[in-house]
Amino acid sequence: MLCDIYHRPVQDLRISVTDRCNFRCTYCMPLDEYEWLAKSEILSFEEITRLARLFVMLGVGKIRLTGGEPLARRDLEKLIAKLAALEGAPELCLTTNGSLLAEKAAALKAAGLRRINVSIDSLKPERFRQITKRGDLAKVLDGLFAAKHHGFHPIKINTVIERGVNDDEILDLVEFSRTYGFAIRFIEYMDVGNANHWTSEKMVSKQEILAIISAKFPLREVGRVKGSAPSVDYQFVDGRGDIGVIASVTEPFCTTCTRVRLTADGRLVTCLFSSHGYDLKTLMRNGASDTELLDVISRIWRGRRDRYSEERLAALRSPRGYDPQDHKKIEMISLGG
Ligand code: GTP
Ligand code: 5AD
Ligand code: SF4
Ligand code: SF4
Repeated sequence: MLCDIYHRPVQDLRISVTDRCNFRCTYCMPLDEYEWLAKSEILSFEEITRLARLFVMLGVGKIRLTGGEPLARRDLEKLIAKLAALEGAPELCLTTNGSLLAEKAAALKAAGLRRINVSIDSLKPERFRQITKRGDLAKVLDGLFAAKHHGFHPIKINTVIERGVNDDEILDLVEFSRTYGFAIRFIEYMDVGNANHWTSEKMVSKQEILAIISAKFPLREVGRVKGSAPSVDYQFVDGRGDIGVIASVTEPFCTTCTRVRLTADGRLVTCLFSSHGYDLKTLMRNGASDTELLDVISRIWRGRRDRYSEERLAALRSPRGYDPQDHKKIEMISLGG
């Protein structure tokens, strides 16, 4: 088993298939213009599949496709079919903003995608538009229900809670997901990237979120899937629905972090808060063999010592405090969460 300095095995691969997105969520990519990657910089499906195969050889059992918005990449289902055919049959998952899901759900299912997570931060069309700047809630809901219609299960709704923005909708979102059979995860607002003007005051903590929910719907803790998932899951005591909270800020989960990331331009990134990645694309395009690539990836993972969220919590609690601007990070839109 390939493990890092803190004995964490590499188990989950998050692949960003494009840095482009048709939304501009305030907490992720509020900038209208950005230096987007040139087409020639972006890995082809063959290149992605080659790297994915090597990661599976090293122990990865789950692959999540992200963006930007992954469905903005043309013919994504063709990539999914290639990944589904890999020896080792990794579990294939997608995190999407849902806007193109209605038209894509059938093809994604047929290609071998197993699970879908959809970001929805508000059920009010006006507010949804304000948060995403360009999003149409009706289209996203169409996508969500289309995924259900095509048999995806579970479908998880991801909701980032920001104080004063959508914290009054927690119970409405819980009721919606229980009524229609979606799982829901509330996410503490994080200081990802460099452009979202994060402050700890804007973050609503897991404790606050759970207090609001459990006052109306008593909960029982279930724990983290495989012990390593970002979400701590809960059951409703009445047995109806699935819910989780992702508390990267107040209860970091770095000690069990088994996730490696690949950017659309082929950089290997060992933490969501990394300031740079290792350029596998150039190595590959310069003719590196599988053995050479496996060596490089293994060396990087063995030397991995990332525990950013734990360090942030320690800084937040220290007299000096924490300034997110002290550390330049890769933008969220290039990493896909
Ligand atoms: P499941 O496989 O369904 O458990 O999905 P997931 O929660 O691993 O992935 P998803 O893309 O739905 O991400 C949900 C939230 O968790 C997003 O806000 C991600 O940025 C965050 N997240 C995922 N992995 C990590 C991680 O390793 N560290 C931190 N800090 N946040 C993460
Ligand atoms: N804090 C927490 N989650 C975030 N996401 C994007 N930006 C942030 C942030 N600042 C989430 C999206 C999506 C997932 C990929 O990451 O809502 O569900
Ligand atoms: Fe919003 Fe996701 Fe696009 Fe970021 S990548 S702007 S979170 S839809
Ligand atoms: Fe993993 Fe980095 Fe997230 Fe910690 S902050 S859980 S090390 S990705």
